[in-house]
Amino acid sequence: MSPPLSPQRPIIGTSWKMNLTRGEARAYVRRLRELLDDDHVGLVFVLPPFTAIDVVRDELAGSAVLHGAQNVHHADLGAHTGEVSAPMLAELGCRFVILGHSERRHLFRETDDDIARKVAAALRHGLHPLLCVGETAEERRQGLTFTVVEGQLRAAWAGLGADEIARSVLAYEPVWAIGTGLNATPAQAAEVHGYLRGLVSELASKETAQSLRILYGGSVKPDNAAALTQVPDIDGALVGGAALQAQGFITIAKKSASRGGSSKE
Ligand code: PGA
Repeated sequence: MSPPLSPQRPIIGTSWKMNLTRGEARAYVRRLRELLDDDHVGLVFVLPPFTAIDVVRDELAGSAVLHGAQNVHHADLGAHTGEVSAPMLAELGCRFVILGHSERRHLFRETDDDIARKVAAALRHGLHPLLCVGETAEERRQGLTFTVVEGQLRAAWAGLGADEIARSVLAYEPVWAIGTGLNATPAQAAEVHGYLRGLVSELASKETAQSLRILYGGSVKPDNAAALTQVPDIDGALVGGAALQAQGFITIAKKSASRGGSSKE
């Protein structure tokens, strides 16, 4: 069973995607630790590529920053060449695994069913599944945003009990905002986060909906982090490109903490 997340808010995480060698990861985390002072920055996590997870774990030893992974296979072991299982990630001290990211859905053809099985595997082995949902620009233009995110959420969580949903983290990541520099406005994000929270209430319970963390991701930068994370239903941010330098990541974490999260605890 995954230990519950600490009640700290905001949660600010970064996925490095397919970036940073082991040497670069080591330098990043050392810099991150230098920059992290006693200021309240909420809960911070880093999702390196598989090859750098142990380096990140070792460099983070003794700090409050958590780490995780960017993918997992649904089976615990077996003849699945090239895949990595949840027990392997748990052994490396991973606390999160990001699932349902649009790059996995679109570039690697992961289906809702694949994602649901991965979510279940993560939960079985004490990892918090960080489930990403989000619409494309075309789906938004057609007025399908709620329909799309609802479909993704229901499919990924199909069959889960309220206690399992409570151990999950959600991220609203509009596909059109990822890596484009064009973030959702706080109002656009607020609308979808509110909708998702309502769904959590229906699928789990009102209490779970209140405590579940829903992060926003998609072109979060130092200059928009505060405005996005001060929205009441946005519990933090998931950052890609702007956090590929430790300085950028920490700036975003501090701006989020000063404007948004701390008052929401
Ligand atoms: P981005 O990526 O910050 O580079 O837009 C976000 C993500 O993919 O989670």
